[in-house]
Amino acid sequence: MSEAENMISLTAELKAKKEKLSLGGGQAAIDKQHAQGKLTARERINLLVDEGTFEEVDKFVRHRCVYFGQDKKEIPYDSVVTGFGKIHGKKVAVFSQDFTVLGGSLGEMHAKKIMKIQDLAMRYSMPVIGINDSGGARIQEGVDALYGYGGIFLRNTAASGVIPQISVIAGPCAGGAVYSPAITDFIIMVDELSQMFITGPLVVKAVTNEDIDKNSLGGAMVHNSVSGVAHFAAKSDEEALNIVRKILSYVPSSNQSKPDDMPYDVNFKVSEKIYKIVPLNPKKAYDMRDILNLVFDKDSLFEVQPLFAQNMITAFARISGKAVGIIANQPNILAGVLDIDASDKSSRFIRFCDAFNIPIITFVDTPGFLPGVGQEHGGVIRHGAKLLYAYSEATVPMVSIILRKSYGGAYIAMASQHLGADFVYAWPNAEIAVMGADGAANIIFAKDISTSATPEETRQARIKEYKDMFNNPYCAASRGYIEGVIDPKETRDIIITALDISSTKCVRKPARKHGNIPL
Ligand code: HXC
Repeated sequence: MSEAENMISLTAELKAKKEKLSLGGGQAAIDKQHAQGKLTARERINLLVDEGTFEEVDKFVRHRCVYFGQDKKEIPYDSVVTGFGKIHGKKVAVFSQDFTVLGGSLGEMHAKKIMKIQDLAMRYSMPVIGINDSGGARIQEGVDALYGYGGIFLRNTAASGVIPQISVIAGPCAGGAVYSPAITDFIIMVDELSQMFITGPLVVKAVTNEDIDKNSLGGAMVHNSVSGVAHFAAKSDEEALNIVRKILSYVPSSNQSKPDDMPYDVNFKVSEKIYKIVPLNPKKAYDMRDILNLVFDKDSLFEVQPLFAQNMITAFARISGKAVGIIANQPNILAGVLDIDASDKSSRFIRFCDAFNIPIITFVDTPGFLPGVGQEHGGVIRHGAKLLYAYSEATVPMVSIILRKSYGGAYIAMASQHLGADFVYAWPNAEIAVMGADGAANIIFAKDISTSATPEETRQARIKEYKDMFNNPYCAASRGYIEGVIDPKETRDIIITALDISSTKCVRKPARKHGNIPL
């Protein structure tokens, strides 16, 4: 055989090896995966990245386990596909666990492949997307699997706030395996087909005697609406991967860059509808999303955690083509009150936006923190403090619009100037006070009212007196606590101008190892 013939034969052998490897766990396992409504690891990657951009690495990696006959087993690419691709033309690092290969279980080499991807993503400043579908620690490998998880957690933490990290949960994710996604920035769960739990239904039954099925324990709906562990629920793998692509259209590749600007309609104006949405009666509800959709670029509002703590909206959007993060009270749910879950949800989103140079726009209409034994004993002080802390430490441009109620601690907490907001504006009907006029009058004029010959008349007169004094935006404006009082129709333009002025914001903080946010 000539040298050239030799090379051709070796190349054919390589091709055959690669093709065999690409079949993963084999056709029967692939069929089983499809029959469950799941895609394979490779199909998922192909849907995730721009067509033809995926470059796989470490396909030939082989496990080193010799226990329980494992040395005689082929485990293609150690059950995880890793590599690089592009999304919207920008580089991303990806790992996708292959359930068709030994249940996507995580052994030493599987973990090393993920760690390598994490390290390279940090080196090259690009997001990491992890697609999880795994039976967890590879039981045959024992402590080597645990070493692997530890190494991944360490890297998740080191990458936090440096590069965006997004987790798709597309199958089981149990035991300690849940903690890698939990450290990442966003979790997308596929409904019915994915679960996250520390221990499954059988262990729960054995320990607490509770009967529960796996989706009720840790399915997509539970983690999106009850626990707040997940950020998005998708109906299918395809939808989950589209959500990843959508998130990445709002965020930069790393904390060293800014989100890309997008085209927008330069003739877009806030319509007159904006006058009709917010009732002047502070007790009446409305949907804050109606306001946001009028103010931000058309179809750009993209809610994060839309099913959790719905009294607080967290969302990405664009204004004049620029990506922003929105924090907004939702008067339609629990009057937009601040509670434990709303504080947790918004604080984490504020910190994500701040870490990745995304300006924060806050819309305020809240009666305050929710009173009650449940909230107090649940630690509303500790959780609410996160919100104050998150805004106070943020250094991105921050613009706040007070639409109506802004009372007491909630006035301070919702991105007031006092916590570092750059520009705060109020609508003319806004009420910025220590508390609502009714409650205030009942306390400070209690004697007056009770000793009056006409108590109800006196109460109403005192309420009016308090309202005239404080329940308007002008007292705060007279102190310079807000930058101005605006016509609601000016809301979009004023935000654009404020963001332009503050776009060169540069805040330097004294050196410290890190702060100690109340967790
Ligand atoms: C080794 C595993 C495995 C694992 C699944 N497999 N999980 N192999 N280690 N953890 C293998 C199965 O033996 C099987 O191999 C193949 O993957 C497909 O699994 P099935 O059971 O046939 O699939 P299915 O019926 O869909 O059930 C999926 C499952 C179940 C619910 C995930 O496999 C399961 O309960 N697995 C074990 C889960 C677990 O307890 N993991 C350890 C968690 S502790 P064959 O050869 O038959 O095809 C943990 C600690 C981490 O993760 C700590 C980090 C800090």
